[in-house]
Amino acid sequence: MHPNVIPFRHEDTATWTYLVHTPGDDAAVLIDPVLDFDVASGEARTLSAAKVLAAAEASQLRIEWILETHAHADHLSAAAWLRERTGARVAIGEGIVRVQRTFKERLNLDDDALVADGRQFDRLLADGDILQVGALAVQALATPGHTSDSMSYLVGDAVFVGDTLFSPTSGSARCDFPGGDAHALYRSVQRLYGLPATRMFLCHDYPPAGAEARAEVPVQEQRAANIHLREGIDEANFVAMRNARDATLAVPRLLWPALQVNIRGGRLPPPEGNGASYLRLPVRLRDEDAHSGASSGAQ
Ligand SMILES: [Fe+2]
Repeated sequence: MHPNVIPFRHEDTATWTYLVHTPGDDAAVLIDPVLDFDVASGEARTLSAAKVLAAAEASQLRIEWILETHAHADHLSAAAWLRERTGARVAIGEGIVRVQRTFKERLNLDDDALVADGRQFDRLLADGDILQVGALAVQALATPGHTSDSMSYLVGDAVFVGDTLFSPTSGSARCDFPGGDAHALYRSVQRLYGLPATRMFLCHDYPPAGAEARAEVPVQEQRAANIHLREGIDEANFVAMRNARDATLAVPRLLWPALQVNIRGGRLPPPEGNGASYLRLPVRLRDEDAHSGASSGAQ
């Protein structure tokens, strides 16, 4: 089965959203939709998601399921807004519960702010689960590593890998978020390379200036040329490279806003007594000495 895959690029976060259906059938799934978010004003907007919805309507497609590949740290999910607009259900990997517990603790949230049992989603997917969506059979494949809740979705000859792999020239995703594990990522990618799928769809691409962003990469090209995880690179070498690289990476710009919305299925935090919603930001003072350059971080 060769599903029709319509990609949408969200420039601000370099994210790909995918609308997937079987040619001739109007039932569709939407993978990783994005809200526009301005961190300075705290305003989340729905224009990009509305464009995806308009494209689905223009193609006479009915979005039945919205699938998240994981709790993203770089963009806010538009799943809740689209769910309300379309009646679609929202699914994510069952590992989301662990991510919710972790961030509930880090953000010191009480049960009124977040119950960490996955109830914010219509379905928690386990490895091997199959969603039948019209003529589409979508198989969930647990591909942990970047995060513990990462799922890939196999649909005929296409596989949607979230942040498991980037384009061949960019390599692989970081594994240093809570629950991340470079060993697990290596094994997840070997699993992806063993699939019958031939087309791999990425969640992001960060092309160098002048180059075009890629949504789709042949699996064969990844196997042969991915700079981090081509065939012949063993687990120990990959893990050493990944961990060394992760130690140099900055915190993503939208990490705290994104996680707080995404572990709630794409909803803003519940309103407080004055009717407004607020995001939390853990803060700390790093006590630095100008003479020695020494720093004694509080944590
Ligand atoms: Fe991610």
